Amino acid sequence: PETGCLSIIVLGASGDLAKKKTFPALFNLYRQGFLNPDEVHIFGYARTKISDEELRDRIRGYLVDEKNAEQAEALSKFLQLIKYVSGPYDAEEGFQRLDKAISEHEISKNSTEGSSRRLFYLALPPSVYPSVCKMIKTCCMNKSDLGGWTRIVVEKPFGKDLESAEQLSSQIGELFDESQIYRIDHYLGKELVQNMLVLRFANRFFLPLWNRDNIENVQIVFREDFGTEGRGGYFDEYGIIRDIIQNHLLQVLCLVAMEKPISLKPEHIRDEKVKVLQSVVPISDDEVVLGQYEGYRDDDTVPNDSNTPTFATTILRIHNERWEGVPFILKAGKALNSRKAEIRIQFKDVPGDIFRCQKQGRNEFVIRLQPSEAMYMKLTVKQPGLDMNTVQSELDLSYGQRYQGVAIPEAYERLILDTIKGDQQHFVRRDELKVAWEIFTPLLHRIDKGEVKSIPYKPGSRGPKEADQLLEKAGYLQTHGY
Ligand code: BG6
Repeated sequence: PETGCLSIIVLGASGDLAKKKTFPALFNLYRQGFLNPDEVHIFGYARTKISDEELRDRIRGYLVDEKNAEQAEALSKFLQLIKYVSGPYDAEEGFQRLDKAISEHEISKNSTEGSSRRLFYLALPPSVYPSVCKMIKTCCMNKSDLGGWTRIVVEKPFGKDLESAEQLSSQIGELFDESQIYRIDHYLGKELVQNMLVLRFANRFFLPLWNRDNIENVQIVFREDFGTEGRGGYFDEYGIIRDIIQNHLLQVLCLVAMEKPISLKPEHIRDEKVKVLQSVVPISDDEVVLGQYEGYRDDDTVPNDSNTPTFATTILRIHNERWEGVPFILKAGKALNSRKAEIRIQFKDVPGDIFRCQKQGRNEFVIRLQPSEAMYMKLTVKQPGLDMNTVQSELDLSYGQRYQGVAIPEAYERLILDTIKGDQQHFVRRDELKVAWEIFTPLLHRIDKGEVKSIPYKPGSRGPKEADQLLEKAGYLQTHGY
């Protein structure tokens, strides 16, 4: 592993993302020994004029249960590593002060003994990415003669459509090389998403089955049982497709559908993801159902006539040898009846079935990303007893049981650690992002013009019934229980 001075700079340090995700992930890495206090310093930067101590007070409550003595001790040491610099996002003066603070730290840690590493985490809205990147490039690059690096981490939403995303990519691309840019999609940091390639390519069971000859349909679902709560203004500009489907669910689709990469090198994996995205055909309007929960417009920051979807079901079709004819159903919604994210792979019926067991449901392989990570297979077995009846049962690998006591890391923890290590496998490459926007931009523009309408649904429900009808039309057989 690389050694030497490491400065982690969180821009937008007083915002929500930094408080709820970035700082807690850094603290967990620190507690587990991944951030060596002899090398690391953390800088918060934002416009708000506060002191180091005030920033520490603001984030403290998000980091630990202070009653836990072991954590409380680690917390006070961790907080001492954090310094704060305030300044605007578009003026050199603030960034020069930031650079001075980082350099002082590097000198104090005697960075001549090793390289100096500067990681800039932009917990900011994309509108300021170009100016912030320009300021970093002008004022804050790593100046060590002994090597080291400067890396930039950006969050979604990376643009609003193909054109704006490409523009953003070019602006940042003029300043930094692709190898320095880490586009986070936190779904790629989830345990069972990272497990996908192992599952598919290290198990003989799945290899011959994973195709159009055996699979009837694939469903990738995201549900939340709460609404946009306090984020109405942001959300209304984006909607559920940009917020969840075009990024998180599409990334999961890539891992389910891609061909085997020639190796585990990040570029080989990302090449295959791009190929499968390029094989997706344009989305047809009759394979889309949009919804908006009743009460969404009560938020003061949401216009009274908003058509922004808080729910969407769309069917993607992949035009290649493996998947022709298999619907990939992507479904996401807020204010639904449960909170869950899962992949459901439904297999075709058994031909010439002498038990007539299709009636009880199909073979289905379910990967539950959250909550309670699990994989299970629904299959038909003989009902125990004297009769020769069949019943649907499950082969179940629930992580909570099988890996008792093993802590599953938070997505952000892993991804930040990857950025420090320089591993880009779980980050979205520029060309990947471009194709992802190509797939959804025509539909998004039609929605923005009001040509595709959102159907109202009751909060706490399954979403509009039209979505279930679309699933049925696509050949999905509703299964029960489990
Ligand atoms: C974010 C979305 O990217 O993902 C939020 O902006 C959503 O709207 C969140 O709530 C869901 O993440 P997770 O990890 O809780 O499934």
